[in-house]
Amino acid sequence: MTANDLAEIVSRASAGAKLIVVSNREPVVHERVEGGVTVLRPASGLVTAIEPIVRAVGGTWIAHGSGSADRVAADERGRVLLPPNDPKYTLQRVWLTRGEEDGYYYGLANTALWPLCHHVYVRPHFSRRDWETYRTVNRKFRDAVLEEAGEDPAIVFIQDYHLALLPRFIKEARPDIRVIQFWHIPWPNRETFRIFPYAEELLDGLLGNDLLAFHIKYYCRNFLGTVDRGIESRVDYEHFRAFRGGHPTYVRAFPISVDHAQIGRDAESPSVTQRIDGFRKELGENNGARLFVGADRIDYTKGIPERLRAFDVMLSCHPELRTKVTLVQLSAPSRTHIEAYRILNDNLDDLVDEINWRHQTDTWMPIRFLRAHHDYHAVLAAYRMAHVAVVTSLHDGMNLVAKEFVSSRTDGDGILILSKYTGAARELADALLVNPYDIDQMADAMYSAYLMPEAARRQRMEKMRAQVTKNNVYRWGARIFEETERTLSREVA
Ligand code: G6P
Repeated sequence: MTANDLAEIVSRASAGAKLIVVSNREPVVHERVEGGVTVLRPASGLVTAIEPIVRAVGGTWIAHGSGSADRVAADERGRVLLPPNDPKYTLQRVWLTRGEEDGYYYGLANTALWPLCHHVYVRPHFSRRDWETYRTVNRKFRDAVLEEAGEDPAIVFIQDYHLALLPRFIKEARPDIRVIQFWHIPWPNRETFRIFPYAEELLDGLLGNDLLAFHIKYYCRNFLGTVDRGIESRVDYEHFRAFRGGHPTYVRAFPISVDHAQIGRDAESPSVTQRIDGFRKELGENNGARLFVGADRIDYTKGIPERLRAFDVMLSCHPELRTKVTLVQLSAPSRTHIEAYRILNDNLDDLVDEINWRHQTDTWMPIRFLRAHHDYHAVLAAYRMAHVAVVTSLHDGMNLVAKEFVSSRTDGDGILILSKYTGAARELADALLVNPYDIDQMADAMYSAYLMPEAARRQRMEKMRAQVTKNNVYRWGARIFEETERTLSREVA
């Protein structure tokens, strides 16, 4: 499936309606730096997946303008044409006050819903004020959607847990607008969800959707179970849909993906080759070592301390590996205003120091912890240099680092160690699957990866590449729009 195939499918499914994509995170962030403005591509699985889709099909993408130079980089209505040198779609920025960002993004979305949905033993915190702000901000997004739609027919494709009330708000104002939502994070079982104090209103918001999609069936089932218990409705388990006030919301699983072919081309570009040289210089004496590479936002769901500890255990059990392996951890700071994230950051510094101190030699450092916003080409360079990529999330809806790594390895080599608690593990069965809570098992997997013969590495990589080639992000998009068309015709019939 290519970008053009998808564009055709979407244009047929939308039958002339305007396409409006809505998310919290924007595809590009303009930041003020000394002497000017710099453009960043945020470290976000959502952006990785959705940007190629919007580029292929056109339309408007409404998102929070969070960068310090976002206003100066946009026109007076908050619009930016993207990509700048060959515009394919419009980014419409929504402005939030600091108080709104605090209550809606840092508060309700990331201190309540994020830990609740991932349940990795970090306690969610609830506050009525945050909930009210979340509601206000969802209304702000609704106003932006309605303004963009004007009087025209429209299809609105909403992303993620920041905007759970938006579907209902749109339907109240314009019942004719088709509303689809993709929930990029897990949906917990109903026992876990029942502590959420505003469950009924949130579920009512989501049941404003015509189609609500998750990565895997397990989350769909959890969602239907939550609805069954949490709100007056009729749940039809046979057809995976829920009726509220007579209106059906279809619930479906579509595992998200990446633009596999494009990542492969980018990974072979001169700019990536340059970055590889740069990294080699930076690694200095460590240069000859086999690289284990991690690339994550610094988030407690990603299992970064567990990964570092497993590397530590491997070195303790196999001291002969000293100087022969290095763990390069690219870590993008994230949500640093939240206490749990600040604590994680501090703990990581201590842990890296402790492990390095234990094993380092005069010329070799076991862990290189590179905390920064690494741009796309730098991340691809690290993937290309990796003997092993290590993805050890404690829980992750999908995890696109795994799929990006596989896509970047056009050379056919490289091993993936992958947490079985990621959505990606269901498709990438040829990775070395691990339980990230079991440090010893992860250390064993790292050691097997170190020893794995080239033929076995290539065989596994080939199968994983075939899988991501088949289910690329355009196929994901096509399945969502085809399903929208199908369910719509069922309703009309
Ligand atoms: C996850 C969420 C996305 C989010 C991304 C980065 O992938 O599903 O919605 O964009 O994390 O987090 P951030 O808070 O920086 O947008």
